[in-house]
Amino acid sequence: MSTTISVIGVGYLGAVHAASMAELGHDVIGLDVDADRVAALNDGHAPFHEPGFEQILRRGLQADRLRFTTDYADLADVEVHFLGLGTPQRTDGNGADLRYLRAAVDSLREVLPARGGAPTLVVGKSTVPVGTARTLAEQLGAVEGVHLIWNPEFLREGFAVKDTLAPDRLVYGVADPEDHEATEAAVGRLDAVYAQILERGTSRLVMGFEAAELVKASANAFLATKISFINAISEMCEATGADVTDVARAIGMDDRIGPKFLRAGVGFGGGCLPKDIRAFMASAEDLGVGESLAFLREVDAINGRRRIRVVELAAEMLGAETTSGLRGRRITVLGAAFKPDSDDVRDSPALEVACRLREAGAQVRITDPEALAGAARRAPGLETEQDTDQALRGAELVLLLTEWGQYKELDPARTRELVEVPRIIDGRNVLEPRQWREAGWEFRALGRP
Ligand code: UGA
Repeated sequence: MSTTISVIGVGYLGAVHAASMAELGHDVIGLDVDADRVAALNDGHAPFHEPGFEQILRRGLQADRLRFTTDYADLADVEVHFLGLGTPQRTDGNGADLRYLRAAVDSLREVLPARGGAPTLVVGKSTVPVGTARTLAEQLGAVEGVHLIWNPEFLREGFAVKDTLAPDRLVYGVADPEDHEATEAAVGRLDAVYAQILERGTSRLVMGFEAAELVKASANAFLATKISFINAISEMCEATGADVTDVARAIGMDDRIGPKFLRAGVGFGGGCLPKDIRAFMASAEDLGVGESLAFLREVDAINGRRRIRVVELAAEMLGAETTSGLRGRRITVLGAAFKPDSDDVRDSPALEVACRLREAGAQVRITDPEALAGAARRAPGLETEQDTDQALRGAELVLLLTEWGQYKELDPARTRELVEVPRIIDGRNVLEPRQWREAGWEFRALGRP
């Protein structure tokens, strides 16, 4: 059965959610205050690179099941509203900036009474500090017929469509999970929206608002910790001559540990993990239990150190005693996005390393199949080159910092013909050192001899 749905805030999460809900057969309207973004989406153009997204966007638009607006008045008849607004890091500290979410809820409250008390569900998907949902529920509950469920999103960029349509689990946070009578109707309404996902046997967990908020924050904190853990071991490997990929492979075979998120390298970036662990720490401090999450400060610090280590390694390989000796040296950086299959450069390790090298006076050229426009906006002085061969030409040192497929498959012999001096740092541990060394390259990696 189809439901009329709105998705308020059509950034990465919201736009993918809107198109995915249309794909499930619902009648969807996406809303954003950014008129250019709304126009692009209405024209079937994805404002970001995400495999499979543009296809489902166009399919929804063509079937007349999906449209986008800037006007809250268009949401008056909607039965289920999803909140997909961004909660970036505050400029004055580590906490999350809830201003966009609050403004959206204020605007939504004005149109909700138009339903005349008919049951209406508001579903929060944004990543928020624990306690936010209960406050919003109090505001929204004042409108007759309106219920709130907190339903965190776990999608990964690059797999966003798949993660939305086939999630590992669905989490519903409600005001009082013991009060079945009060929650039954709202839970049933959201189950109807996700019916096709639930029919496949996907787990659906109902819990309190606070637990649902903590599930999201804890999941990202755990992932960040796992990456920083292996990167800390990587530092131990560098001090001892061990190979971190051997350590990771062997510990990952213990299924209590598991092999995923144990790829050592230049560390995590993006619009989620870095800001989410900081917001989580800020939230713990606000609650008076700052020491509980103090270890995340170390997780953040280890992550930051990997970026600096790449710069130091670059100086070492170029025979410069300090990074100031990098002046004028020609360095090519492969990758600008924070991870492959994404054009997102927010807090990208690759971009930060490129900028640090340039600040030290190096002549840096950066290439990426999708993220150069974003990189040029964030770091206007960097030299960008779309073509990989062109980017490599004349380099004295190559840095692989985002593991796009085409960089993993570079042929060492052919690449050697392009560069000036065959020196490479594999910042993602995706190349086969022996192959590169045999082809005459000076090869270094993070946490590998
Ligand atoms: C992350 C989470 O994985 C999602 O579950 C979550 O929904 C999302 O944040 C969010 O909160 O919205 P995402 O930011 O798309 O997703 O990226 P990840 O795939 O988690 O990668 C994050 C960073 O960690 C990347 O820079 C990646 O290169 C790095 N990474 C990942 C490693 O350095 N090593 C690894 O082993 C894995």
